[in-house]
Amino acid sequence: MLSAIWQYAQHIGESSLIYLGYLTCPQQKGLRNEEILSRVSEGCVLIARIMDPVDDLFEFLRFPSVSADSQFTRHIEACADWLVGRLLKAGLQAQKRATPGHPVVVARNEHRAGRKRVLIYGHYDVQPADPLELWATPPFEPVVKGDKIFARGATDNKGQILAHVLGVESAIKERGDVPVNLVFVIEGEEEIGSPNLEPFLKENKAECSADVVAISDTGMIAPGVPTFTYGLRGILCLEIRLRGPSADLHSGIFGGSVANPATVLSRLIARLHDDSGRVAIPGFYDRVLPLNEWERELWAHLPSTESAWLATTGSPRLSGEAGYSFLEQVWARPTAEVNGIGSGYQGEGSKTIIPSRATAKLSFRLVPDQDPHELRPLVDNFFKEECPDSVEMELIGQHEGKPYLVKPDSPFAKAAQKALADAFEKPVAFIREGGSIPITQSFKEVLGIDTLLLGLALPDCKAHSPNENFSIENFKAGIRLNRKLLERISEM
Ligand code: BES
Ligand code: MN
Repeated sequence: MLSAIWQYAQHIGESSLIYLGYLTCPQQKGLRNEEILSRVSEGCVLIARIMDPVDDLFEFLRFPSVSADSQFTRHIEACADWLVGRLLKAGLQAQKRATPGHPVVVARNEHRAGRKRVLIYGHYDVQPADPLELWATPPFEPVVKGDKIFARGATDNKGQILAHVLGVESAIKERGDVPVNLVFVIEGEEEIGSPNLEPFLKENKAECSADVVAISDTGMIAPGVPTFTYGLRGILCLEIRLRGPSADLHSGIFGGSVANPATVLSRLIARLHDDSGRVAIPGFYDRVLPLNEWERELWAHLPSTESAWLATTGSPRLSGEAGYSFLEQVWARPTAEVNGIGSGYQGEGSKTIIPSRATAKLSFRLVPDQDPHELRPLVDNFFKEECPDSVEMELIGQHEGKPYLVKPDSPFAKAAQKALADAFEKPVAFIREGGSIPITQSFKEVLGIDTLLLGLALPDCKAHSPNENFSIENFKAGIRLNRKLLERISEM
């Protein structure tokens, strides 16, 4: 029992536990704190459990709400239902709304005239958990280890959504309401490119309209450093499929006389970059905005070092486009990446064949003002030009999203920065990021509003990787941050 108490003490804080001890066992007054701690009863642990937001998060994390894989659809639905229930419990009106894909969860408080309207966006879907064997504990059985919660979706993005909800709930409990008109839009398809959210915004424009969007689905530059993100990269994903012989062939009987699709694919991929690390597709950089001097200067002084970055990646050494720092490469330069590649025999030993097919999944990260619609034909032309007619090539477009860049000194941005500085009691770091949240640009284009990106994910959060985790401290800071954000916006 004592170890359970200590486990809880770790994440609710010792002082709260002692306080709980006083509440549940008043006869313990006069004892030393250590004695109280050692005498807290089972009932106290129960109360701690009830009061502890981590338990709420554990429930949320147990749903394997993987959007990419149709085997998980019923879990997506169950997760959305749970979220609706949690929002209702917080004192909001909430609904699960059907789309042609996974449902959107929408919630709001009672709107009153004259108040600012804030849309809080998040996503309850998660990336696939594989490779499962690399997880220290199962991805959908959340655990606390040290000061972190480990589970798929902990940091991307369930922890932050729940922090928003709990922040709102605490304000409602204490003051009856939050000081703004609130709309929650929490989707189940972010990790597959939000194919149905822009149409949903268009169809429900009045309901979703707001003065500003707040999203906590980005990173924090270092633990404890409040971080305001004013730019995100866009994305263009496609699959390339090559077909050579109609079936795998004996490489001795036929080798040398027909093209090997794996070799052709490798050559095509190798030509994607030049020797200085630049993407070699003609026209690829035409619309790339150069970095501003002020941001190069600011970023050079951020608490993020090359060696720490290297350690986080686990790579033998850093490598990227020449002439840019590692942060500049990731935040303000476009890339071409191979996300997956496959062809031929992968089993034990050797098999002497010429594979019939070769495929690769590619993604391009884009920066302002690149546009995925404009780039797609450039990418297609590149492959068509480069691909020999000894194989047949098919290019299949997948999801895409525009990059995002917002003025970091608008009145809403300043209100968000005040909230960040209050919540973490430190000066705010200004960054862009390499990841993509394509719907941010749709909020701008469909609803005409800016998005405030307030990050809580730490550099070693392992988003999209095995052992994804969220810091309990940041989870709790997120609850405070949400309240302060809504207060600061209401004071504008
Ligand atoms: N939370 C991320 C986006 C992100 C990550 C922003 C790191 C800033 C820093 C989001 O859930 C995500 O992973 N988005 C996908 C979008 C894609 C599937 C369209 C991404 O960036 O790969
Ligand atoms: Mn993600």
